Amino acid sequence: MGNKVTKAVFPVAGLGTRFLPATKSIPKEIMTLVDRPLIQYAIDEARAAGITEFIFVTSRGKSALENYFDNAPELESALRASGKTELLKLLESTNMESGAIAYVRQHLALGLGHAVWCARRLIGDEPFAVILPDDVISAETPCLKQMIDVYQDTGGCMVAAMEVPRPQTASYGVLDIAEEKANLVRVKGMVEKPDPAEAPSTLAVIGRYILTPSVLETLNRRKAGAGGEIQLTDAIAEEIVAGRVVNGLRFRGTRFDCGSKAGFLQATVAFALARSDLRDDLLRYLQDVVAYRSVAE
Ligand code: UTP
Repeated sequence: MGNKVTKAVFPVAGLGTRFLPATKSIPKEIMTLVDRPLIQYAIDEARAAGITEFIFVTSRGKSALENYFDNAPELESALRASGKTELLKLLESTNMESGAIAYVRQHLALGLGHAVWCARRLIGDEPFAVILPDDVISAETPCLKQMIDVYQDTGGCMVAAMEVPRPQTASYGVLDIAEEKANLVRVKGMVEKPDPAEAPSTLAVIGRYILTPSVLETLNRRKAGAGGEIQLTDAIAEEIVAGRVVNGLRFRGTRFDCGSKAGFLQATVAFALARSDLRDDLLRYLQDVVAYRSVAE
């Protein structure tokens, strides 16, 4: 069961209001975690999961993102001429194969569901992955690979799932759990941003999905009928109503919400501490800051 997943959609058309004024001119996905833009982490994770076609749903003001994926011949020859082979290798590792990337515009930020729907013609009639680059996941086995490995046996739709404190359920899509086997959760319902008192569980959906084309058909109907935000969660929930399989995978790894300032800062510290060239200095600095604060208090 389960088809090979070779396409991934990266919805990057949001307004990024939580990072204003920076996002006035810099797409959120280009902001750097240590020395790599958020989008590079997402691309690397997709590649590690066997994705070969990368579909970006963009909007006005995202040209810096498109430029990032162009080769940089002048930079490459300058590095080659000066013998900086390590940097050259690093740069080349970010090059994308010609034709591997496609861009589609979301003309109005009508919601994540609408953004995915905008990519429908490029997706066609096959299962596909969706990656939200502002959810950065540090994991031994990249999160999407964990999902695709399990999906080969389960088919259907799959979402990445993570426990959150109950008050935080109001910020997530939340799963109604039918049954659980190891880290796989069979889902019987999904609610977007519930009132914490009414959340069916504390298991939240985070930004990795494997979806079947029937979700696009549902989004198609929503497009015709509804105004306002078009939620991806609602379209996936309709799969369950139609009797199709939806699973949540409790992935192994740490997720950082880089769509928020606090999450971005935490990710910056965590990723820098994981780097041998930065770790010692940063740790010393953090220890000094903490010691200074406790003396001041
Ligand atoms: P967010 O909820 O983080 O919204 O979107 P946002 O606009 O990016 O940021 P804030 O809340 O204003 O600060 C989650 C993901 O869905 C994409 C975003 O680009 C992000 O990757 N998205 C959201 C779209 O592509 N289109 C939309 O209409 C909405």
